[in-house]
Amino acid sequence: MNYKEALQLSVFKVITQSAEELQMEAYVIGGFVRDFILKRGDAKDIDVVAVGSGIELAKQVAKNLPTNPKIQIFKTYGTAMLRYNDIEIEFVGARKESYSENSRNPVVENGSLEDDQNRRDFTINALALSLNLNTFGDLLDPFNGIQDLDNKIIRTPLDPDITYSDDPLRMLRAIRFATQLDFTIEAESLNAISKNSSRIKIITKERIVVEINKILESTKPSVGFLLLEQTGLLKYILPELIALKGVEEVEGQKHKDNFYHTLEVVDNISKKTNNLWLRWAALLHDIGKAPTKKFNKRIGWTFHGHEFEGSKMVYQLFKRLKMPLNDKMKFVQKMVLMSSRPIVLAQDLVTDSAVRRLVFDAGDYVDDLMTLCEADITTKNPKKFKKYHNNFKIVRDKIIEVEERDHVRNFQPPISGEEIMNTFNLKPSREIGVIKEFIKEAILEGDIPNEYEAAHKLMLEKGLKLGLKVND
Ligand code: CTP
Repeated sequence: MNYKEALQLSVFKVITQSAEELQMEAYVIGGFVRDFILKRGDAKDIDVVAVGSGIELAKQVAKNLPTNPKIQIFKTYGTAMLRYNDIEIEFVGARKESYSENSRNPVVENGSLEDDQNRRDFTINALALSLNLNTFGDLLDPFNGIQDLDNKIIRTPLDPDITYSDDPLRMLRAIRFATQLDFTIEAESLNAISKNSSRIKIITKERIVVEINKILESTKPSVGFLLLEQTGLLKYILPELIALKGVEEVEGQKHKDNFYHTLEVVDNISKKTNNLWLRWAALLHDIGKAPTKKFNKRIGWTFHGHEFEGSKMVYQLFKRLKMPLNDKMKFVQKMVLMSSRPIVLAQDLVTDSAVRRLVFDAGDYVDDLMTLCEADITTKNPKKFKKYHNNFKIVRDKIIEVEERDHVRNFQPPISGEEIMNTFNLKPSREIGVIKEFIKEAILEGDIPNEYEAAHKLMLEKGLKLGLKVND
């Protein structure tokens, strides 16, 4: 492979020139090199190592670039960042590092390029390309990272025990890369992750969530969640999922393993949507099943109210992980809360009024809810599988039909409270609510169309029944 091809961006020439002016060595390293070799599309970040001061090199580069970009300096880490043509370029001095036991904060010493490569997370992330004039484009691969890329292996440059305990976030990164790239974590490394799993506790929630999101955004997220479970990390991160594991049997009656079921649902939904929050909803749709599980002699295992319980748990979980408690969280809650509604429909006769109610309750999220529920079909019984999917097709068609006719998606009552007050000469009172609810119910049931005339007539009838007098 000709690695010079990776260095066609004009900024690399400027870095070369700047390094030359400072009599410094410079290399591009890490994800940029890895992703070029894997042909993973255009890079957004470039990491540059300087043998010397990264901050000095960044300053020189900024001076030499036609846009003279501002640089952001992170003094404690000895790094500097600048943006050029929408690409973030980070500069760091080559370091020899050791980490203290209880934090990620490193004790930094200057080092050679190889020292720096040594302290990186994986061999595939330690690949460096020279930006120096005489060796421009040469690959520096002291740990056989290329071989590991070819064999699809995640391996640490140093003894994995050292690499992971230096920075426990790397345990999650290993699993994330394995999932994203469809790589295998080398056995020694996997053992080290299991051994060090409890050290994940020192990592901030925000960084953990970045990795979980990347796992969820992969083609087959189950790969990552199975590894998280297998290494013992999942219990520190998402204990709610661990609680779904296992099959209980009482008097010959078993329920399904809701952990493996959940992972199947997440993989299914990932084939249908790139919406991260819908993928989160799939991951969490059954978490309420652990606390609501009961055995009933007559009907077997039940999980009554698990959707409601689950939606409350979504809030607690987002809060614990310092995730945003905004409309995204509310969306996940709503999906979890409503996750059984279409299933009930699909198992039974699909009536117009049930579909109207579904659209009314789900509003704009009805399509996402249908996607979630289709992904939730994991039955291995081909007859049932076909029946449920057919019924969902009917539900989807009916949603369109009902929507065209009745417009209940973002329901606006055809008769306002004000009109009811004027008609019956009422002050704000309970009766107004009663009449409004009666009209809404009649529309959802399909007793009257969602139109003014019909609603007006019904209002008069209901008013009379309530003993109200029409204002003349
Ligand atoms: N790195 C590391 N340990 C970490 C994080 C990062 O050794 N905990 C090193 C790796 O060499 C990595 C580089 O820093 O390649 C840049 O890190 P980052 O930008 O976070 O990741 P990328 O490898 O670029 O990959 P991605 O963009 O997919 O996160």
